[in-house]
Amino acid sequence: MTGANKGIGFETAKQLAEQGFTVLLGARDETRGNEAKAKLKKENLDVRFLHLDVDEPETHEAARKFIEENFGKLDVLVNNAAIAVDEFKSGTLVPTSQTPLDIYRRTFETNFFNLIALTQTLLPLVKKSEAGRIVNLSSALGSLTLHSDSASPFYGFKVPAYNISKTALNAFTVHLAYELKDTPVKVNAAHPGYVSTDMNDNQGPMAVKDGAKTSVQLATLSDNGFTGKFVHLGEELPW
Ligand SMILES: NC(=O)c1ccc[n+]([C@@H]2O[C@H](COP(=O)([O-])OP(=O)(O)OC[C@H]3O[C@@H](n4cnc5c(N)ncnc54)[C@H](OP(=O)(O)O)[C@@H]3O)[C@@H](O)[C@H]2O)c1
Repeated sequence: MTGANKGIGFETAKQLAEQGFTVLLGARDETRGNEAKAKLKKENLDVRFLHLDVDEPETHEAARKFIEENFGKLDVLVNNAAIAVDEFKSGTLVPTSQTPLDIYRRTFETNFFNLIALTQTLLPLVKKSEAGRIVNLSSALGSLTLHSDSASPFYGFKVPAYNISKTALNAFTVHLAYELKDTPVKVNAAHPGYVSTDMNDNQGPMAVKDGAKTSVQLATLSDNGFTGKFVHLGEELPW
């Protein structure tokens, strides 16, 4: 799991470990990662720290090697890490037409391109699992259907680079699910909810305990579960 040192990722690591998974808690910062691991270890959970910086391809390869040598397969990949670096001016979000290209590029590097790179590196190990699951942390803010519906509560939340990176991630989810549809691997996108974390200055009304539920559900789908869907707490969302 990526970005598991805090927020929704940390809680997802906790809940999966509570279900008996051996969790590889991925974090880009070794200190923050080890501190998070220590918290879960105190609860007697089977959690190990894995140095994983989505933007550093050498950590992808080191992770692949570590997992292959120690486990021979990867049952679940949770692509949880993401950034939201859209700019504000005078307290208002910079609109789509004025958002600097650099912001789009930085956001896409982490939330899209490098997520794909990590997934491609680890996919051979996911395929070795009898029940491989890939969970991509998207957002309802990535839904084109909701964004073009003036009656939707998400209609006015135009956070350009972040939202569009999640739209692209949704498309990647659909394409990868199609490629793997005749294998046991299930690939789905999660909207966790509007969850109180550092990403939104803890403004979200939902607690991380509930925010992790969708990721956990998609990580633990049964063999006859769905693939290629966009889900929030068991409900399907429009792309
Ligand atoms: N919170 C919400 O309301 C909400 C709503 C919809 C979707 N989501 C999605 O849910 C996921 C988790 O978000 P969150 O709210 O828990 O955010 P968060 O508290 O800001 O946590 C983000 C995590 O991603 C990590 N990260 C960022 N860049 C990374 C990189 N290059 N390599 C590895 N890790 C990296 C962060 O590590 P550091 O601690 O080192 O920065 C942190 O662990 C994200 O994909 C987000 O887009 C959140």
